Amino acid sequence: MPSLSVSLGRLQLSNPILVASGTFGYAREMEEYVDFSQLGGIIPKTITQEPRIGNPPPRTVETSAGMLNSIGLDNDGLEVFIEKHIPYLLSLPTAAFANIAGREVEEFAQMAERLDAWSTPKPEAGLNALAGLELNISCPNVSGGVDFGTNPDSARNVVAAVRNSTSLPVIAKLTPNITNIVEIAQAAKEGGADAVSLVNTFQGMAINWRTRKPILGRILGGLSGPAIKPLALRCVWQVSHAVDIPIIGIGGIQSIDDVMEFLVAGASAVQIGTANFYNPKLSGTLAEALHQIMAEEKCNSLAELRRCEGVRAGLGE
Ligand code: FUM
Repeated sequence: MPSLSVSLGRLQLSNPILVASGTFGYAREMEEYVDFSQLGGIIPKTITQEPRIGNPPPRTVETSAGMLNSIGLDNDGLEVFIEKHIPYLLSLPTAAFANIAGREVEEFAQMAERLDAWSTPKPEAGLNALAGLELNISCPNVSGGVDFGTNPDSARNVVAAVRNSTSLPVIAKLTPNITNIVEIAQAAKEGGADAVSLVNTFQGMAINWRTRKPILGRILGGLSGPAIKPLALRCVWQVSHAVDIPIIGIGGIQSIDDVMEFLVAGASAVQIGTANFYNPKLSGTLAEALHQIMAEEKCNSLAELRRCEGVRAGLGE
């Protein structure tokens, strides 16, 4: 049987299909729909040190090719995450991460230090170890949220501060709303990131021309879904050719062909996001389809699949 297992630096995953932060709640919401053992990993909604109420409504709007959100990091804060969500997440038969955000470098570092207590399994409580931390330095919907991801020095500093505060694998989730994503990915690597996830949403807006007003309460939001796939693929491609760091591709993935395109562009794994809203079972289906493709391509491992001649065709490698 071909193996779907993948390593991203220190991070070992049973398969490369994860679910993206902000699209899967804290997993409990999905338990009656999803076989968690089929997932390569779960990245729950971003948490911040203190609870946040998020942005004024409306906070989502569907567009012709994807959705805009302006949630504003609505969450219950670190303490509730630790008390209520961690015990559930770490009891699941898949890798569970925490996704953290802060307004100051110190907030990121303090949260990382606190979460380091779950860097080893607790067999007596039936809990796995936390698989890693994803740093949300890319949310377009809050002030003081995206700044770390738009400047290489800030990105390097925040990643380094987290790196020095925990032994957990660290993934930096980057914004595409910049001129040169390669230099931010390079900075994240220099700061000690184990991997980067590319990309968060693209800043956009929707207007109701009849009322002559923007639809979202905060006017601007982040666009996700099929519209951004070619843009996200471009980011993955650029970073994979310039920076030696494992990449998790995100952006409008909704079919096995989309998954393969991201893997061929240079991603080692992918996250399914917006598609979870209309098909929460999709990630499991994609993991099965990936098995089938590996058999068809006669590849025994993902590394082989990403390199094998048929898949590489046209890339000039
Ligand atoms: O507004 C939000 O909570 C979105 C977060 C993100 O895109 O990272």
